[in-house]
Amino acid sequence: DFIMKANVNQDTCIGCGLCPSICPEVFDMKDDGKSHVIVDEVPSDAEESAAEARESCPVDAIDVH
Ligand code: F3S
Repeated sequence: DFIMKANVNQDTCIGCGLCPSICPEVFDMKDDGKSHVIVDEVPSDAEESAAEARESCPVDAIDVH
């Protein structure tokens, strides 16, 4: 089965907050002001929104693979 994983580059993320608003199943803002991936695997019903979050990030900090 296809398994999607997500990653946020902590050096690049500027904490704009877009990704958790687009895909809260996968991304969450932490106290450090950056987005963190909160799941080991992207749930199948969140794959589309995770990909949308990747495309929407203004600094290309998100990788989904
Ligand atoms: Fe950071 Fe990009 Fe999300 S800047 S908060 S990873 S949309």
